[in-house]
Amino acid sequence: MYSQKVIDLFMNPKNVGRIDNADGVGEVGNPVCGDVMKIYLKIENDRIVDVKFETFGCAAAIATSSMVTEMVKGKTLDEALKVTNKDVAEALDGLPPQKLHCSLLAEEGIKAAIEDYLAKKSNAKQEESEAKQCAKA
Ligand code: FES
Repeated sequence: MYSQKVIDLFMNPKNVGRIDNADGVGEVGNPVCGDVMKIYLKIENDRIVDVKFETFGCAAAIATSSMVTEMVKGKTLDEALKVTNKDVAEALDGLPPQKLHCSLLAEEGIKAAIEDYLAKKSNAKQEESEAKQCAKA
């Protein structure tokens, strides 16, 4: 059975939606059930200032999406990367064993969005340094 927290967040999830011009976007899926989670991050000074999600999935996937977005909001990227699916499941007062895999989407979604942000940032830095080199030449 689902905990009351899972039921509440499934019925009234927080942070649903998308962020236009997000700094990082992560999309992950579970190939077994076909559920998909998309995470959007707004980042300032390596801190997550806003986060939203769109999840097409089961009740556990929706509740874990909502919980993980609440858990990482306001955290630095390093802190957010340390949030595991176990932390999310515990914050929801547990998940039925056959639904634990759903919480993996939450951990992976946040990581994918942060990786997207870091990749964009390093590309931007590279372009900047190439532009500087061109200007010098
Ligand atoms: Fe697919 Fe829960 S059954 S994420």
